[in-house]
Amino acid sequence: MKELWSRHCRELVPYTPGEQPKDGHFIKLNTNENPYPPSPLAVKAIREALGDGALRLYPDPSCTVLRQAIAQELGVDPEQVFVGNGSDEVLSLAFSAFFEPDRPIRFADVTYSFYPVFADFYGIPYEEIPLDESFALPRAPFMEPCGGVVLANPNAPTGKEMDFCDLRAIVESCPDRVVLVDEAYIDFGARSAVELIGRYPNLLVVQTLSKGRSLAGLRVGFAVGNENLIAALNTVKDSFNSYPVDRLAQAGALGAIQDVEYFRCTVNKIMNTRSYAANELEHMGFYVCDSAANFLFVSHEKVSAKKLLDGLRERGILVRWWDKPRISNYLRITVGTEEDMKKLCATLRELIALHS
Ligand SMILES: Cc1ncc(COP(=O)(O)O)c(C=O)c1O
Repeated sequence: MKELWSRHCRELVPYTPGEQPKDGHFIKLNTNENPYPPSPLAVKAIREALGDGALRLYPDPSCTVLRQAIAQELGVDPEQVFVGNGSDEVLSLAFSAFFEPDRPIRFADVTYSFYPVFADFYGIPYEEIPLDESFALPRAPFMEPCGGVVLANPNAPTGKEMDFCDLRAIVESCPDRVVLVDEAYIDFGARSAVELIGRYPNLLVVQTLSKGRSLAGLRVGFAVGNENLIAALNTVKDSFNSYPVDRLAQAGALGAIQDVEYFRCTVNKIMNTRSYAANELEHMGFYVCDSAANFLFVSHEKVSAKKLLDGLRERGILVRWWDKPRISNYLRITVGTEEDMKKLCATLRELIALHS
């Protein structure tokens, strides 16, 4: 069958997204979704956009009003903002806009597994730089000349926040290459690199409304950077799909960005639940990586991650596990509601008693 596929397509190894079960019987702690619903203002804005009959018209291709709201919220100019169909799309456009097939880029060996997929898709070579034993990022290899740098901060799947001075030093070290900082999880307490945008024309920060603003289903992400980088993203976007963000998404995202109070409240609840769950897990004999994200990366001293993954699934709880070097004895557990985390902890206690 693959004879009909292009040679390029035949060689692709796509990203495997976390499971989205068809029935609702699971406690879903496997894809870092927010356990709380989106802001009522977002839902109201979507309903209004649906009711006004305008869906027959194409959306604003440059998301003008939404960009203004994001810019105001982050203290940058609207010309320094680019909006796309989820941050995965924004990242993909950025790989195409800023990296070359003849200059290897660098990212960590343990990081978001979409980066090698994007790189392979565009034929961009890459070097995976090992994190240290505690999954901290060594800054020196990222300060050497290379075709570009991609950093997730906080990192995924570890949840670890980067040292801010290291981040700045990496951006500053080679002004001739773009440093892409993926801040998908920035809303849960880490320090954003957006404050550096004015000073470094080679810095692009990518964020999403999927996590902190509970809108994974709406697909809205954005980049913040120097006008020149934003112009490159628009050039690639308009060579691919001029209208990636539909009318409902633009309306809902605007409502969510404007509802700062709701955002702060839900994010705070998640951060409190994160501390509670981390503490409980440590008492059960887990090593819990310091997390500035809405998930915990954990490894048990006695029971293997795979056993716990399977046992949790049989008991209706989904978490994420990778059969990969260095991390195959770890689970990544999304922080759900306090009730979800109580059930998780009770089930883990049962499994640990069973297997140890
Ligand atoms: C590190 C990281 N970056 C980007 C994304 C993509 O998020 P979205 O496309 O929903 O904005 C994710 C999703 O889980 C992620 O973990």
